[in-house]
Amino acid sequence: MKFSRIVWAFVLSISLNGVTNACQRHYTLDDFIPYLTASYLQQRVQEVAHRIDTDYAGKEITIVSVLEGARPFTRDLKNALKSKTQVVEVTAKSYEGTESKDLTISGLDSIYLKDKDVLIVDDICDTAKTLKKLVEKVQEKQPTSVKTCVLLMKNTSKNSTKYQPDYQAVEIEDRFVIGYGLDYDGAYRDLNCVMALKSSAA
Ligand code: XMP
Repeated sequence: MKFSRIVWAFVLSISLNGVTNACQRHYTLDDFIPYLTASYLQQRVQEVAHRIDTDYAGKEITIVSVLEGARPFTRDLKNALKSKTQVVEVTAKSYEGTESKDLTISGLDSIYLKDKDVLIVDDICDTAKTLKKLVEKVQEKQPTSVKTCVLLMKNTSKNSTKYQPDYQAVEIEDRFVIGYGLDYDGAYRDLNCVMALKSSAA
């Protein structure tokens, strides 16, 4: 009797371990496929920069860049813009692995934005929580104007309010993507292209 209990406890612990491992699947680069090439991204950055230059003619743009993800896009956008720009950086974190979690924003308190034309630049708009929260917080600082610009606009039902950034370089499907600033648990930000998780197509 005692022995059979031990056997059952052993079998149960092995099965639970299997379930836990399946839930915490860790992805490697082999799980991603090429999605947007580096040259295509650069072409779209030039196009969005041209639209911004036209709209902001004669004005200085204060870019609020959302780290870590927007760093490469901000760098290339700033280089492509003819308008005078000043870049300030804030940090936002909401993703853990491939899951969107609670949002934290830091670094904005010490930034002076009164009477500035502010352009919030982020890597991707998914649920739109980050951009909406940032617009709200920036508006408290009494800028002249606030607009938003993203590299990627995810076409997803998670964006329940259907928020649209003022500028978007590329619209993508509802897939988890990495590269060009976008990471999977801190990795793959340095890729100059964007790759999509194979199993993440909606
Ligand atoms: P929200 O949901 O607030 O998301 O619009 C904005 C932030 O979430 C991260 N995010 C992703 N990161 N691949 C990533 O590596 C993705 O597919 C993805 N979708 C959202 C990102 O940091 C973005 O700023």
